[in-house]
Amino acid sequence: MLKPTDIDQLRGDFPILTREVYGKRLVYLDNAATTQKPQCVIDKIVAMYTTMNANVHRGVHFLSQEATEEHEASRKVVQQFVNAATPNEIVFTRGATESINLVASSFCNTFCSEGDEILISAMEHHSNIVPWQMQAERLGLQLRVVPINEQGELILEELEKLVTPRTRLIAITHISNVLGTVNPIEEIVAMAHRHDIPVLIDAAQSVQHTRVDVQALDCDFLVFSSHKIYGPTGVGVLYGKEKWLNALPPYQGGGEMIASVSFEKTTYNSLPYKFEAGTPDYVGTAALATALNYVTSLGLDNIGRYEQELLQYATDKLLSIPGLRIFGNARQKSNVISFLVEGVHPYDMGTLLDRMGIAVRTGHHCAEPLMRVLGIDGTVRASFAFYNTPEEVDLLVEGITRIVKMFRA
Ligand code: ALA
Repeated sequence: MLKPTDIDQLRGDFPILTREVYGKRLVYLDNAATTQKPQCVIDKIVAMYTTMNANVHRGVHFLSQEATEEHEASRKVVQQFVNAATPNEIVFTRGATESINLVASSFCNTFCSEGDEILISAMEHHSNIVPWQMQAERLGLQLRVVPINEQGELILEELEKLVTPRTRLIAITHISNVLGTVNPIEEIVAMAHRHDIPVLIDAAQSVQHTRVDVQALDCDFLVFSSHKIYGPTGVGVLYGKEKWLNALPPYQGGGEMIASVSFEKTTYNSLPYKFEAGTPDYVGTAALATALNYVTSLGLDNIGRYEQELLQYATDKLLSIPGLRIFGNARQKSNVISFLVEGVHPYDMGTLLDRMGIAVRTGHHCAEPLMRVLGIDGTVRASFAFYNTPEEVDLLVEGITRIVKMFRA
């Protein structure tokens, strides 16, 4: 179990947390947008460029082979992290968004035709809406949207009612980046499989807070981004069951993804390289593996328990502010609190908090359709990582209280 004293020590792993903004100590509460990086991840990036830089899978020379071994070892770290059956099921991409685009493009091209349906939910991020919409426009597919209730939970009965013989895939977020809702993905996968429908899980907001085991979940695809789990930007993961990845055509063409090329015909590489056209970000994958090992050494159960306590503390304190309304009150909720305070525009709130050194996100959080469902333009969002403390929550609450007083004066 992580205790506040452990957190103080762990904060020392993150050099950026000691910096000041506007002469104030930084209180970083925008972790759902991106997480800060521990020194070990920063060191790994420097070490890769300092001692091991060479293109992977291409050279007979020592450095290239060493870099290749490192890159493939990183794939195994990711495999173990999500408990995939084999490293072939781990495709490196640029991020969760590219992973979803890959599946949307390759899956719809192969398995969908005019009139077929893709099921998503009302709480999806744009990255799990637009790629499907683009395929829907191209192929004449229908996007069906599972509604949410007042608490911001998926209405599961509606989900099953929306399944038809034309449903080809269900793409659903594990944890909402706006509401913090933790969706019952085990149940959703089980229900979908009863109807022979594959499921893609957007785990961009979940792998850093809770253990995800793709074999236990039995999901068909799962995506996440490195930068949200303390790793570098520009790297992401697509997990796909081997049977699906084998059945899908490549997403992009280029080097690495081929077995042989002639002007007449190209044959494709085996998994996972078939989906990895071009030079991969082998520095990024090595640093992602370092980040995953770091998180694993802390223990995701420990992280999850501590973050739940912090979330409860922050929720109680924020609700004590008159006129503050929280959006997203699911029974199973994770590390984000989206809120509005009567009489204060979210943009003003975010800007004034920033002047106090407190970083939060404001706006629609790349979930415009959800904002419409909620009947608002945007919110202020505080999102927590395990390095945040109750004292930082207090500073947030003090900051909001001062701003509200200013506006009401
Ligand atoms: N998806 C990120 C967020 O929710 C950018 O802020």
